Amino acid sequence: MKIIMIGFGLVGQGLAQILRDKADELRSRQGFTARIVGVVTASKGNLYHADGLDIDGLLRAAESGSFASYPEDNQLRRDLEARQLIKRAEADVLVEVSPTDLQTAQPALDYCRLALKNGLHLVLANKGPVALGYRSLNAAAAESNLQMRYEATVMAGTPTLHVAEDALAGCAISAARGILNGTTNYILTQMEDGLPYADALNQAQALGYAETDPSGDVEGWDAAGKILILANAIFGSALTMNDLQVEGITKISQDDIAAAKANDQRYKLIAEVSADGGSVAPRRLPLNDPLASVGGATNAITFDTDLMGAITLIGAGAGQLETGYALLSDLLAIHRSSAL
Ligand code: HSE
Repeated sequence: MKIIMIGFGLVGQGLAQILRDKADELRSRQGFTARIVGVVTASKGNLYHADGLDIDGLLRAAESGSFASYPEDNQLRRDLEARQLIKRAEADVLVEVSPTDLQTAQPALDYCRLALKNGLHLVLANKGPVALGYRSLNAAAAESNLQMRYEATVMAGTPTLHVAEDALAGCAISAARGILNGTTNYILTQMEDGLPYADALNQAQALGYAETDPSGDVEGWDAAGKILILANAIFGSALTMNDLQVEGITKISQDDIAAAKANDQRYKLIAEVSADGGSVAPRRLPLNDPLASVGGATNAITFDTDLMGAITLIGAGAGQLETGYALLSDLLAIHRSSAL
């Protein structure tokens, strides 16, 4: 499988590490081999090599902050921009891991459209194109017999969309409710242990949980984007941000958290969605509510179904390798269904 990547931040590097470290296991157990042939970034530069880039060299160069230090080779190209790479790389899959923009989804949305036009499958960790452009991308993919996969966009590699769309395909899901943002759950957990908000946010950024612009996390927009993705994927409903009630955790003080604790309660940022709409809001949960015990960057979601009742998934909601793994799981799904 020949892969091109747009973006090479923590999550993209996580996928590259996994492809390097698990290469033998993936070949022998899954019959899967992958080469990253091109990477385009906003700040590090661009690289393309038709035979595949050296992952160690790529990761070392990324760590130095610039691809300038990637070893020279007479077939290596550094001049291809995203559109040229998509058209000329003869790749099989575009992995879109550039920073999420939930207002316009651009330029990623245009790159995704161009990729489908040029016969590439799509795998995304970037939530923007899925939250805002789901319908048109899905239709374009189906028309060209290509796949658009986006497991990484909700609860990292915890197989949330896989369960909702594939494993529960014969059930009707009436609603989903849970903790869908790792950064805010981490911050709330740390604040309960006495850490000031700003320090907890700094830690969440250092651990790679937060978005490039963390205001999207703390103001609830990241969880809202995930609600839109779930609404599209589960209910086929074209909700927009304007249909959602969204409130983050920025108004919750250490005193609020202490007051909740004194009453055997805990604040959680709860996201809910059904066919009719959705919301994101901080809620005080009694300690015996199963969601109250989900701490740190862990996420949880409960699907209400007709045949199976409530099904709850609890697992990583953010993180470099956890989200990198989600991308791998999508690449493997494409591999299984198209023999790439
Ligand atoms: N910023 C997101 C979070 C990353 O904290 O949950 C995973 O989508």
